[in-house]
Amino acid sequence: MIDQHGGPFGVGERVLLLDQKRRRYLVELTDGGEFHSHAGFVPHRDIVGQAEGSVVSSTKGAEYTVLRPTLEDFVLEMPRGAQVIYPKDLAPICILADIAPGVRVLESGVGSGALSMTMLRYGADIVGYELREDFANRAVANVRSFLGPAALDRYRVKIGDSYEGIDPTDGPFDRVVLDLPEPWRVVPHAETALRPGGILVAYTPSITQAAQTREALKGRWTDTRTIEVLHRGWHIDGQAVRPDHRMVAHTGFLSVGRFLGQGRSRREPAAAASPAAEREDQGSM
Ligand SMILES: C[S@@+](CC[C@H](N)C(=O)[O-])C[C@H]1O[C@@H](n2cnc3c(N)ncnc32)[C@H](O)[C@@H]1O
Repeated sequence: MIDQHGGPFGVGERVLLLDQKRRRYLVELTDGGEFHSHAGFVPHRDIVGQAEGSVVSSTKGAEYTVLRPTLEDFVLEMPRGAQVIYPKDLAPICILADIAPGVRVLESGVGSGALSMTMLRYGADIVGYELREDFANRAVANVRSFLGPAALDRYRVKIGDSYEGIDPTDGPFDRVVLDLPEPWRVVPHAETALRPGGILVAYTPSITQAAQTREALKGRWTDTRTIEVLHRGWHIDGQAVRPDHRMVAHTGFLSVGRFLGQGRSRREPAAAASPAAEREDQGSM
C-alpha cells in the first residue's frame, strides 16, 4: 500500500524513480535489492529510510529523484495483463458514472484493474466479472499493491462471462461500468441488475462499438450520451509556450445512459427540447 503521508521509504513498498530525462521506473524495494539500468545500479538500501524527493546516484553517476507513485504513475507503470484504460479517461468515467463512497458497481471486464483501482479510490464497492483468471488475479494483485489489503473488502472479482448474464445474487447495482469488446451484449443483463436511476458507462476504442452500444440503450434508458476526451499537453519554458508537438490523439469513447427501470421507456424528446438533448448537442460531459 502506498503511504500517502510522506514517511521514510521502507522495504516492501513501491517507489518511483525519475531520471534526468524524466523517464519513470516503478521499483519494489527489497532487502539486498538493486535497481539496474544502462547507467549501472542503485542499491535499494540507498533508498530505504530516505524521505520523498531524495536524489540517489547509480554506480555510474546517474541521478534519480525518488517519489511515491501517484495512482496515475502506478496505472501507467504497473504490471499488466490486459491493456489498461489511460488516466485521461479514468477520472471522466468516474464522473460520468457518479462514483462515490458506497456506490455498488458491476464492472466487466476487469483486465489489469486500472479502472477498478480508480473506482475503489472514489469509494466504490465493486463486483467484477472477468473471463480470464490470470487477468483477474493480476487485477486483484494490483489493487492490493496500490490500495492495500483493506480495499479488497470492497472488491470481489468473479471468473465469468458477463455476456451470459449477471447473477441476481450479486446485485442490485447502482452502476454498471464496462470495458469489453461488445458492451451492448451486457445491456439486457444490466437492465435486470441495475436499480431504476442507475447509470451504465461503456468504454469502447471504436465509434462503431459506441454506436452499437447506444442502439442497445434505446428504450429503457435516458440521458444517453457519447463523448471523447482530448488531452493536449503544453510545453512551457520561459517565453517558449506552445502546445506539445505530440499528443495521444485517440484512446476511446465513453458512452453513458441512465436506466429508467423495468417496464418504463423513454418518451422521445422533441428535437433539443430536453436538457439531455441540449447537452448532447453541446457535447458536454
Ligand atoms: C481492455 S481489458 C479491461 C481493462 C481494464 N478496464 C483496466 O483498466 O485495466 C478487457 C477485459 O475484458 C475481458 N472480457 C472480454 N469479454 C468479456 C466477457 N464477456 N465477460 C467478462 N470479461 C470479458 C477480457 O478478458 C479483458 O481482461
